[in-house]
Amino acid sequence: MQVLVQPDADSAVELVARIMAGALRDRPRLVLGLATGSTMEAVYARLCALHRYEGLDFSACRTFNLDEYVGLAADHPNSYRYYMNRHLFREVNIALKNTHLPDGTAADLEAECRKYEGLIDAAGGIDLQLLGIGRSGHIGFNEPLSAIHSRTRVEWLAAATVEQNAPHFKNGTSMPRQAMTMGVGTILDCRRCLLLATGPDKAEILARAVEGPITAMVPASALQLHADCLVVADEAAASRLKGKQDYELAFHNDPKWQRILRPAPTTSPARR
Ligand code: F6R
Repeated sequence: MQVLVQPDADSAVELVARIMAGALRDRPRLVLGLATGSTMEAVYARLCALHRYEGLDFSACRTFNLDEYVGLAADHPNSYRYYMNRHLFREVNIALKNTHLPDGTAADLEAECRKYEGLIDAAGGIDLQLLGIGRSGHIGFNEPLSAIHSRTRVEWLAAATVEQNAPHFKNGTSMPRQAMTMGVGTILDCRRCLLLATGPDKAEILARAVEGPITAMVPASALQLHADCLVVADEAAASRLKGKQDYELAFHNDPKWQRILRPAPTTSPARR
């Protein structure tokens, strides 16, 4: 695991978007794993801007989202399909047939979960998985006690998650208590993981995930087992990390990240 702390949420978001854009430029047929939630809205806004103003091309890209609420149809404003269409898919040149989320209204949810795993396999696996972290310690909707080897399945949401997400459900719509989620094992199989955490609400749980023991009680701590996982945090979310300075040094001295730290100029140099 590597950790990079940015001074504020905007620069953390900018960096994450730039890493994703770089991966897409390097491999146009990239298989991207996507997340939803408040933190990611700014990342998608940035990716949309990169598409609009710098021609970032999504036409060959395939995507798999982490999760979907059980019982919410694609046209429900709280469904994650609706969120993705609104924040990214409708704004860039991606073919909707190349975008995947589990179907929370499937008659046989277990069969739908197996099908989802099969679709990921058929796409050759996920190249780069974007992740947030919930106050419960979840990644995707893998709540405390999720097995490290778990696969896509139906999960009951933890009380902390209901508290975190219920405010998004307006006009008397009640929040589903179950969701379909890629498993922790499914996430660990992704070739690269990129976790973004911003804001003081995430400080304590991020410290437990990064520096605490690997435990099913903090599903995000399983990312310590991943060989290629970058955590990007703003100062507020990183405020409880004890080893912050060591992580900075390691990151800035790693040649792999030099291209990201020194981005190419956005305007082309004047012709001579
Ligand atoms: C949702 C997901 C979740 C969120 C997490 C943080 O697809 O993957 O793990 O990333 O709940 O959500 P926000 O950003 O709303 O705090």
